Formats: sequence, structure tokens, C-alpha cells
Amino acid sequence: MAYKLEPLERSFGAVITEINLVNIQDSDFDSLYSDWLKYALLIFPQQHLTNEEQINFAKRFGEMEYDISELSNVKKDGSVRDPSNDDYVKMLKGNIEWHHDSTYMPIQAKGSVFTAHTVPSSGGETGWVDCRASYAALENEMKEKLKNLNAYHSYEYSQKERYGHKSKEESEFSGYGFDVDPKPLRPLVKTHPETGIKCLTIGRHIYKIPGMEDDEARSLAKELEEFSLSNQEWIYHHNWKKGDAVIWDNRCLMHQACPWNYEEPRIMFHSRIAGDKSSELALNH
Ligand SMILES: [Fe+2]
Repeated sequence: MAYKLEPLERSFGAVITEINLVNIQDSDFDSLYSDWLKYALLIFPQQHLTNEEQINFAKRFGEMEYDISELSNVKKDGSVRDPSNDDYVKMLKGNIEWHHDSTYMPIQAKGSVFTAHTVPSSGGETGWVDCRASYAALENEMKEKLKNLNAYHSYEYSQKERYGHKSKEESEFSGYGFDVDPKPLRPLVKTHPETGIKCLTIGRHIYKIPGMEDDEARSLAKELEEFSLSNQEWIYHHNWKKGDAVIWDNRCLMHQACPWNYEEPRIMFHSRIAGDKSSELALNH
């Protein structure tokens, strides 16, 4: 192995140094991919990737759902967006709630590469939680209850209805995934297609569970989320430095953005790796 790996003192995650993500040899990439499956979150301090380098790195992990998207509160003209009345900022605030990416799309994302370009003086961390560890620790009775339960996921519900987005025509925010129809139905417990490890698929986008009243469904989703957040060994928050890059496995981790002083600029770039249809396609698509 031609790089240095230090596991986080958690149930998941590792920091990797002595590597340049721009030119990884194939043999090193094979071991990096295995480490990614094992640790689910890899952190690469101080890589300073350009957008093109980021996309090329992400593409080594699979087909892309989309190449790159700027997650930022800075407008094209360089001014900071109005924190109180801007759909982009509402989207950034919505990301504070724990979620997996693209559970509201027909195909859930496989993973994401995320890089820091401008960071605020404090706050703005990204957090992850290990849904393999939390599933494994559930009582048998709960595991039995979850066995045959599925949940509908909707970004239209989790963002538009709850954060008061304007209509598509009036908003600069694209509303990616708002109009997916039918809303995807996913098992609450999935088996990871590459590791075979069971994990929870939960988070903010759940809004209905067939066979349950909506209140009951949302409180079950909340209970599973709170249980996943009940052990500090399953959670890690990264305090970004400009130039850091990470890649996470979206099939078994949830993540959240942390708030910061929205008067300060924060510019991040996100590349989303597409899920494999054979394992990440919703049951009803
Ligand atoms: Fe996200």
C-alpha cells in the first residue's frame, strides 16, 4: 500500500495521507477502493483538487449521477446570498437534517466526493453516521419489526413543503428530484451490495410507510435516526480546511451539514456517484 491510512477512533472512517488523488496507480486504487468499502468514509487532507480533478477522481468509483455541483452561499457576482430569504440557502439549511443522498430519486446514490474551497471561520462541518453499526446494535424485536417494512422518500416533502420553496419558475434553485413520480419506495433495512453488511436506510426524506399512519411512520423513522445518533462511536464530524477532500459510501452512511454564520462565504463542490441499478433501484421503479 503506497499511502498512509489512520482509522478514526470510530466504528468507521479513516484519514489517508501520502497520496495524490490526481495520479493514483491502478494497484493502489484497488486497495483504496477496498479501504473505502471497509471504512465507508475516507478523508484526504489538503488535496486542493480542481473541479476537473475532482470529477476524474470520482469517476474511478463508478458512473456519475452528476459530475459536479457547487454547494455555496455565494452568488456568481461574489456577493453572499441573503440568509433569510433565498432558496439556495433554504436548501443548505435543509441539509442540516440527516440523510442519504438521492433516496428520493429512482436510484439511490452510491457515494459522493466532497471538497472544501472556501470555509467559514467556524461551523460548517459535515457529519456522518454509521448505519451499519446502528442496525447491528438494534434489539432483535426491532430487527424483526423492520424486516418487511419499506418507506417512501420524497425531496418534495422534505424540502419544498417544509422549507417553503417557491415554484420552479420563480426559484433559482433547480428543485432536483422534486417531481419524481411515483415517489421511491425503499426497504428500511438493506444489504450492502458489495460488503453484504446490513444497514438502515432512513433520514429526512422518509414521509410514508405503507401500512402505517403518517405520524406513526415518521415517528418510527425518527426513532431509528435517534438510535443511530445515540452512540458517539458511530458519528464523526469533519472540521473542514480549505483543500480537503472526502469520499463516502452513501449506501451505509447518513450525513448532515452543520450550520455556520451564513453572512460568511462557504464554497464546497459535490460530485455524486450513481448507484448500481441492480441494488439501488427503488422497489416501485
Ligand atoms: Fe447530502
